[in-house]
Amino acid sequence: MEPFNYRDGVLYAEEVPVPDIVREHGTPAYIYSRAALTTRYRAYDDALSDFPHLVCYAVKANSNIGVLSALARLGAGFDIVSVGELERVLRAGGEPSRVVFSGVGKQAHEMRRALSVGVRCFNVESEAELVLLNDVAGELGTQAPVSIRVNPDVDAGTHPYISTGLRENKFGIAIDDARRVYREAAAMPHLRLDGVDCHIGSQLTSLAPFMDTLDRVLLLVDQLEEDGISLCHIDMGGGLGVVYDQETPPDAGDYMAALRERLGDRALELILEPGRSIAANAGILVTRVDFLKSTEARDFAIIDAAMNDMLRPALYDAWQAIDPVALRDDVEEKDWDLVGPVCETGDFLGKQRRLRLKAGDLLAVRSAGAYGFVMSSNYNSRNRPPEVLVDGDRVHLVRRRETLEDQMGPEWVLPE
Ligand code: LLP
Repeated sequence: MEPFNYRDGVLYAEEVPVPDIVREHGTPAYIYSRAALTTRYRAYDDALSDFPHLVCYAVKANSNIGVLSALARLGAGFDIVSVGELERVLRAGGEPSRVVFSGVGKQAHEMRRALSVGVRCFNVESEAELVLLNDVAGELGTQAPVSIRVNPDVDAGTHPYISTGLRENKFGIAIDDARRVYREAAAMPHLRLDGVDCHIGSQLTSLAPFMDTLDRVLLLVDQLEEDGISLCHIDMGGGLGVVYDQETPPDAGDYMAALRERLGDRALELILEPGRSIAANAGILVTRVDFLKSTEARDFAIIDAAMNDMLRPALYDAWQAIDPVALRDDVEEKDWDLVGPVCETGDFLGKQRRLRLKAGDLLAVRSAGAYGFVMSSNYNSRNRPPEVLVDGDRVHLVRRRETLEDQMGPEWVLPE
């Protein structure tokens, strides 16, 4: 389903004209579609309906508690990487027993909190972390459920900054060392070995690297079985890509079917941690054109959203579609560079985009529901935008626009 469509030349979010939302909430603003979140979560969940599974939405992709609450009500699990994300899940009504805790640098206080609320599993990434987790669980007189994140040394074929499954990446334990590490972990009294985990990267557009990874991980599962270590689940991480431009990623249903087939009748529950494939195309960032400025070399549209609001183009040179909110044909088409007000040359959301523009026009940056607001900052002391969740014809403000008091409140001038 396409949540953002034109009707009579005007972009709608589900049943609501985007200009109506802007009238109420201003620009820049993130707008999400509840129906799109639901459809994309269900694409995973339904494809596995008769297979033991848990879909743990990766909170880092979009951690707004309104968004999390929509997913929690569908019965989603959550993949978290900090105690902050855990508290968001709890506030949103998420079930702790459906939470997996990932990340290379978990701290003792985070482990304590996660153990005390009863998370489903810790995805452990190093031997040092195993030792700390064993100690913390011992102090609490409990056993921590553990899955070791293995690094399968598979090339995910994605952007180097978001590729995580190669030998040279900081993530996980090399798959060749994993058998030894599992044996060590099995001897730690406050750990319970539950599963095996991997995540090879993000924005993958083919299934082959996932399937190579699964083969390698299943080999390990068999070796561990020989060692008397019997695992209950396999966590394939997230990583399925989305369409930003001309990509052709497999759909979640096909991916799930391939995993199921390869898992056969092994008694292993399948856990997944999708983020982008659930949230990215469930959101847009709406911005207004403030000024048009033509130089000898370029035509610039200066818009009111900037790299602090949406970092992906500046950080990864990522391409996101940018469309007019209201179609017009009364001005000529030009190739515009869409740049923000921040004082950096890297502050652009799109370059050389063929558009018909006038000052005051609204633009929608597409595929902004994942790794959008969550990566925003206050750089240049800009207030971060509001987030709005549309549900049919209803518009819910799920985060208000920041104020300067929000920014300066936690700071103090020096005493006299
Ligand atoms: N699980 C783990 C352990 C992860 O590290 C990630 C993402 C996910 C799941 C979710 O992956 P997804 O399904 O969203 O691909 N900021 C970058 C993306 C960073 C992804 C980090 N890890 C971007 O904007 O492209």
